[in-house]
Amino acid sequence: MDGFVGVFDSGVGGISVLRSLVAELPHEDFRFFGDSANAPYGEKTEDEVFALSRSIAERFLADGAKAIVIACNTATSVAAARLRAAHPAVPIVGIEPALKPAARALPHGRVLVMATEVTLRLEKYHELARAWGGECEVISVPCPGLAARIERGDLGAPDLSEMIRGFVGPYAGAVDAVVLGCTHYPFVRRQIADVLGPEARFFDGGAGTARQLRARLAEEGLLAREARPGHVTFASSLDTPEEIALYERFFSIPL
Ligand code: DGL
Repeated sequence: MDGFVGVFDSGVGGISVLRSLVAELPHEDFRFFGDSANAPYGEKTEDEVFALSRSIAERFLADGAKAIVIACNTATSVAAARLRAAHPAVPIVGIEPALKPAARALPHGRVLVMATEVTLRLEKYHELARAWGGECEVISVPCPGLAARIERGDLGAPDLSEMIRGFVGPYAGAVDAVVLGCTHYPFVRRQIADVLGPEARFFDGGAGTARQLRARLAEEGLLAREARPGHVTFASSLDTPEEIALYERFFSIPL
């Protein structure tokens, strides 16, 4: 089956999910769109995040996307249900903080959930925390400014490590697991681990989202023919060669 999968995020974060998608589905064509001109989403109003998400999704559909992945926890919380209702014939797969796998792996553990303010504020997250909060202790930590800082690159810089220390320093040595509930954060997993210590196990939603996309494409008979290699292309609302080069770099840096 021809056609591409449209993948979007507020910016570079969704590239961490794209990597899981390509690993799970190497024969698919993926078009990634990062809305870096409008990042961060996590500090906008819900109406703003919805309007931005809808216009990206509709552009993908007008271009012939066979499926859409919302590679952003914030945009998923705000827009996934409404986009699915508006486009019931198209698989639209979202991402949520990986609290369920963390709670299952570490029953009775202390689980730190890092995410944007919008993700942690919305009912979707409260439901998730209620569902799994009986199995483990959930500590929710909003990280304003962190996704925007990651957007700028230069991930080894001391100011970024300092910012991370400000958010998670109080939990150093005191948590069993960390849920990276924003798709930007896997790019600073090591910096977070440096602050929290070697005991904490990390969870993110990338692999689960990729498995969900496979299942939905299979259900709809939309999987690519396996004889061909897939292609990945990058586009951004910050449409400069430097920005696309940054996206390509994020696609290949070791995680
Ligand atoms: N990467 C996004 C997420 O997963 C949002 C980051 C932002 O733009 O605030 O929530």
